[in-house]
Amino acid sequence: KKTIRDIDISGKRVLVRVDFNVPLDKEGNVTDDTRIAAALPSIKYLVGEKAKVILMSHLGRPKGKVDERYSMDPVAARLQQLLPGVSVRKVDDCVGEEVQQAVSAMTGGDVLLLENVRFYAEEEKNDENFARKLAGLGDIYVNDAFGTAHRAHASTAGVAEFLPAVAGFLMEKEIKMLGQVLESPARPFAAIIGGAKVSDKIAVINNLLDKVSALLIGGGMANTFLKAGGREVGKSLLEADKVDLARELLQKAGDKGVDLLLPVDVVVAPAASPDVESRVVPADGIPEDSMALDIGPQTVTNFSERIKEAATIVWNGPMGVFEMEPFAGGTMAIARAVADSAAVSVIGGGDSVSAVKKAGVADKVTHISTGGGASLEFLEGKVLPGVAALQDK
Ligand code: 3PG
Repeated sequence: KKTIRDIDISGKRVLVRVDFNVPLDKEGNVTDDTRIAAALPSIKYLVGEKAKVILMSHLGRPKGKVDERYSMDPVAARLQQLLPGVSVRKVDDCVGEEVQQAVSAMTGGDVLLLENVRFYAEEEKNDENFARKLAGLGDIYVNDAFGTAHRAHASTAGVAEFLPAVAGFLMEKEIKMLGQVLESPARPFAAIIGGAKVSDKIAVINNLLDKVSALLIGGGMANTFLKAGGREVGKSLLEADKVDLARELLQKAGDKGVDLLLPVDVVVAPAASPDVESRVVPADGIPEDSMALDIGPQTVTNFSERIKEAATIVWNGPMGVFEMEPFAGGTMAIARAVADSAAVSVIGGGDSVSAVKKAGVADKVTHISTGGGASLEFLEGKVLPGVAALQDK
């Protein structure tokens, strides 16, 4: 894809879609500014080139209506802290006269943040007129919002019809890192897939089975695979209607010669609660009245061996209910194993990203994607609308 390096932007009005959909606390403060920080390389480059930098994003899901709880104000405040010496202004709308005036008043090197684009229902409908209005604010469109690239919305896809459309540096890096593991991974290639539900991960498992050497499955979804292999899983989370599908995926792994590892032991408890008594049992001995809530120590050892051998690692989804102390051990151990490996490691999906942060090893991972749903769809092999809309080199 073409990037901001490939076109002349100096002095131009550059309309940049960023993903500033960040978590806020009850008082409305930004609690994790990773996504804002991740957009800084593009923003600083544009500021340095004396472009007029007009930023737009969504925040939360305000359902097409103005809703103060989803205002970009706190994001603007944090952005200004991260850009000392740069003029960062914020406007209370994303289209219309007030916005046009604010843009006219800009000089090269200024930054203007528009209000939440999802305050208009037209955004998610990818309404052509709305996209045209947004496009009218700029001379060039830059998409740096990898985290929202799986949405075909006005600010991520529609607007690209009306302006020269190129990728920002974050978008470029995400496509390069995630693309590399799918297209030309160094081998052995191990994928670790977890999370609560198989149904969310079927497409990614299916795609990865064509590419990986080993597939390590943990988390709540492992129960459905255990059941497909004839094990009883007690009160564990189970998607009964996905057992046949899990069996097909096990079969596919066999046909492809992929080493598919399931838990051989699990941490069980009567309920998913932080103050229950937990114990380790073999995966073929889950008591009827118990739930599997984490992978056990032998499974950690088995998985860690594969992680250690791997030259490429992809991880999506936690190994257990790691938000609760008694069930965090497996996920934390896998985070450390990934961090300690010499492999190219790529982590996507909000939960596994919080897990590596919680384990304090985020800086040892090759690439932590800013995309949750977007990184998952990318790994499924889907073409993301926000990427498809950009010009090729
Ligand atoms: C995300 O956080 O995954 C992106 O910002 C997209 O948000 P959405 O799921 O509300 O479209």
